[in-house]
Amino acid sequence: MKGKLIKEAERVRMRAHVPYSNFAVGAAVLTKNGNIFTGCNIENAAYPATCCAERVAMFNAIANGESKFDQLAVIADTKRPVPPCGICRQVMSEFFDEDVQIHLANLHGEIKTISMGKLLPFAFVSEDMDV
Ligand code: THU
Repeated sequence: MKGKLIKEAERVRMRAHVPYSNFAVGAAVLTKNGNIFTGCNIENAAYPATCCAERVAMFNAIANGESKFDQLAVIADTKRPVPPCGICRQVMSEFFDEDVQIHLANLHGEIKTISMGKLLPFAFVSEDMDV
């Protein structure tokens, strides 16, 4: 499944809207129901309005009624397997259990698999707002 997820991420990467950075990223999530949803990064002339590939893939799944996740893959043309940004890590931590596996890949075929708990330890969670 890891290979299929990375392939899907590589495929959707071609749809990235990246006129400003020219840095295309693709992501794919596997839901607990066994379905795959994909996303690419979508940039905007107002730069902060940009959305990363990982969040587009997750939001695509959630908008289609699936918010229980099993794995995520992300790929970019990087020297090392691409590390997700801090905002994406925080969004993942809202929906992923600590043992969800995240596959970081690059176009050279390198893959680093890391768990949610390792990718963002000591994450801020909803319980932190309980007083
Ligand atoms: N980007 C992603 O889509 N995912 C990442 O994990 C890292 C960064 C995008 C955001 C922006 O469109 C471009 O890459 C450069 O930061």
